[in-house]
Order: sequence, then structure tokens, then C-alpha cells
Amino acid sequence: MIDFELTEEHLMVEKMVRDFAAKEVAPYIAQLDREHRFDRSILDKMADLGLLGICIPEKYGGSGFDYVSLGLACEELEFVDTSLRVIMSVHVGLTCMTLAAWATEEQKRKYLVPLAKGERIGCFGLTEPNAGSDAVAIQSTAVKKGDHYVLNGEKMWISLADVADVFLVFAWTDQEKKKRRDHSGMSAFILQRGMPGLTTATIHGKLGIRAGNTGSFSMNDVEVPAENRIGNEGEGFKIAMFGLDQGRFTVAAGATGLVRACLEASKSYALSRYAFNRPIAEFQLVKEMIANMVAGYETSRLLWMRAAWLKNKGIRNTRETALAKWVACDASERAASDAVQIHGAYGYSDEYPVERFYRNCKAAVIYEGSREIQKLMQADYALGFRQDKQLRVTLPPWPFE
Ligand code: CAA
Repeated sequence: MIDFELTEEHLMVEKMVRDFAAKEVAPYIAQLDREHRFDRSILDKMADLGLLGICIPEKYGGSGFDYVSLGLACEELEFVDTSLRVIMSVHVGLTCMTLAAWATEEQKRKYLVPLAKGERIGCFGLTEPNAGSDAVAIQSTAVKKGDHYVLNGEKMWISLADVADVFLVFAWTDQEKKKRRDHSGMSAFILQRGMPGLTTATIHGKLGIRAGNTGSFSMNDVEVPAENRIGNEGEGFKIAMFGLDQGRFTVAAGATGLVRACLEASKSYALSRYAFNRPIAEFQLVKEMIANMVAGYETSRLLWMRAAWLKNKGIRNTRETALAKWVACDASERAASDAVQIHGAYGYSDEYPVERFYRNCKAAVIYEGSREIQKLMQADYALGFRQDKQLRVTLPPWPFE
């Protein structure tokens, strides 16, 4: 049974994150964005609140909240700025939640615990300069030599790359399968900052999310102990896709918060700005844009909530999460564009936040599976070309043991 009512705990998490973002980030975010500056102290504050392990079981250093709470936190964070939600997507969604499902007990103790406590920051290295949507086209290799693997390759468009301590990396362990594009030749590894041959960099010149860190990293003969392999050899592609089920969920919930931010800003401006002797809110074409934002917000929220409910039950939710991601990101793109339109010339300047919302919304329509990938997936499910099988592992169902 789906219950639409938030629990006391959900409301508490929502309020805590809302207050944090309003007090600790909102007053400075325009400046950080203008200066293209990632403020590391925000990570420490998020760690203090337990956000960096919000839905990780307490026995692994997390806060033990459910996946609805994760979604609520993402909504509230992106209401203020997308860069905050990206931290949740990459550190919590793609990295911690993937490890919570796929890592061994020993690996969880060693890597997940400090990540969930926020003592270490994680990132997810799948994308490469020539491989984005086509994930099996990655070129990175991991060659087994005795008790370790030697990794080589380049990763690009990696959020948090230049601030992360822990890197969840995907590379080919079977070079014959790589040639045949057989995903069962790919494996996943944990790398750590400081390993010889691992170097990171920040990418400059981005359209949006300028208060966030987006980077790249290179692996030049990085020796990685065999015990750092996550899952079995050959399970890397599945682990990457599983990670994206979690990352896409956080993107969907965050984009929902961005729609709400556009709606709130647009309502306030439309009610106070006068033209032709009345508030522009009274014009039907403005009302239409407001109405679309309302519909975008409500549908996006219902979709990510359903995905969260499935996650709580430990039920596979690849289809539902991908749908939520597509719908919410599209809604946020339209809402941001309309919010600028409602603000007129003021919307075109950084005097109002909608200019930042407009630049920030675009990345989510591209990353963690572009709009086109999400649409193809939905069509393939509907046509019977794609089906979700039961997986060897699932997220820890909530309540946690
Ligand atoms: N969880 C677990 N296993 C999964 C899975 C999931 N969500 N999805 C697929 N699998 C498994 C399948 O069961 C299948 O296993 P078997 O061979 O045993 O049956 C295997 O993986 C292959 O699955 P598919 O045949 O479905 O794979 P596909 O080739 O059809 O996938 C695709 C195509 C959907 C387009 C996929 O390649 C895709 O999602 N691409 C987009 C990648 C993406 O989102 N990249 C962005 C990364 S973001 C980033 O890296 C930047 C950052 O900072 C985070």
C-alpha cells in the first residue's frame, strides 16, 4: 500500500535540510556561483548533519533514514542550488548506495563507513572522453598481475573528481570481451587518492553548476589491490547500472526541487510586477506557465516517491527511476526557461536566481543517462524489448536490520 502522508521522521528531515540550505548556503550561493567556487566547508556541514550517509544503515556509519528521506533531502538541497544535490547524487547515490549493496562486509567496514560518516568523499568513474551514453565503449583497462590489478585510462565529466578521496571505477578486465563489447568483461574497483599514477583535475568553463566541482582523472599504471575489486570479475557493468538507478533517483528528486524553486520565484515576481496597470500574474499566458510548473512539480514528485517506495521495499526500480528522472528533468528545464520568461529582462541577469536555475537545469537533462536514453528505455520496456530481471543483490530494504 502506498501512503502519501509523510511521517514525523520525513517531516523532520525535510525541515532540517530546508533550514540548513536556507541558512548555511542560500545567502552565499550567488557569490560562489559567480566565482565558480566549490566551498569545501559545505561538505563538512552536510557531514555534521548526517546527510552524506542519510540512507545508509547506522551499522555502516550512516543515519539510517529511508529512501523517501533521501529524496526529500535532494529536493530541499536543489531548491537552493543544484551543486548541493550533485553532492548527494555522486557521493550518496552513485557511490555509498552502490557499496551498500555490492561491497563485501570487509569492504563496507573499510570504505563505506568513512564515506557514510562524511570523513571521506566518493565519486563514480564511468564516463570517459569518448564514452557517455554508450557505457560499454569505455576504454579503461584493469590487468591482473598477481595480487593486484594495474589500471589505465581516462575518466571525464566526473562530479567531485577533484575533491574525492575514494573513486569507484569501471574498467575492462577481459580484453577479448572488450573488443566484442561484451559487458561481462567489465569490473569495478575502489581507488584511493594518493595511489601512485592517479591524478585528478577540475574542468572549467561550464554553463552551470558553477558552485560544484566537475572534473576528470587519469590512471597511469595504478596498482590496485585485488581486494579492492567490488563484486565478481565481470560484474562491473551491472554495478555501474545499479549505481545509476540510485544516482538517477537523486537527480529526479533534485530536479523536482528545482521546479519548485522556479515556481516560488515566479509566483513572487508575477504577483509584484505590474504591467498594463495590473500584476502580470493576472495575464493568462503567465498563468499558463505557472500552471505548467505546478503540474511539473506534482507529477515529478509522485514519480520519485514511487521509486523511493520501491527502494524501501527492496524491489528493483530501474524503469520507475528512469521515468522519474526523465520527467523531472524535462519539467525542470521547462520551468527554468519559463521562470526566466516571467521575470523578463530581470530574469536574464543574475540579480534574480532564475538565471542560475536556467543554467543549472541543463546538466541533469544530459548526465546520468540523457533524456534520450531515458526515453529509449521507456519505449523498450513498453514494447517488451527490455525487462528487469531479479538481481543478485538489492539495496538494503528499509527499515534496516
Ligand atoms: N542494475 C543491475 N543490472 C543491470 C541494470 C541495472 N539497473 N541494468 C542492466 N543491468 C544488467 C542486465 O540485467 C544485463 O545483464 P545480463 O547480461 O546478465 O542479462 C546487463 O546489465 C546488460 O544490460 P542491458 O542489456 O540492459 O544493457 P544495455 O546495453 O541495453 O544498456 C543503456 C544500454 C541503457 C543505454 C545503458 O548503457 C545506459 O544506461 N547508458 C547510459 C549510461 C549513463 O547514464 N552514463 C552516465 C554516467 S554519469 C557519470 O559518470 C558522471 C558523474 O559524475 C556521475
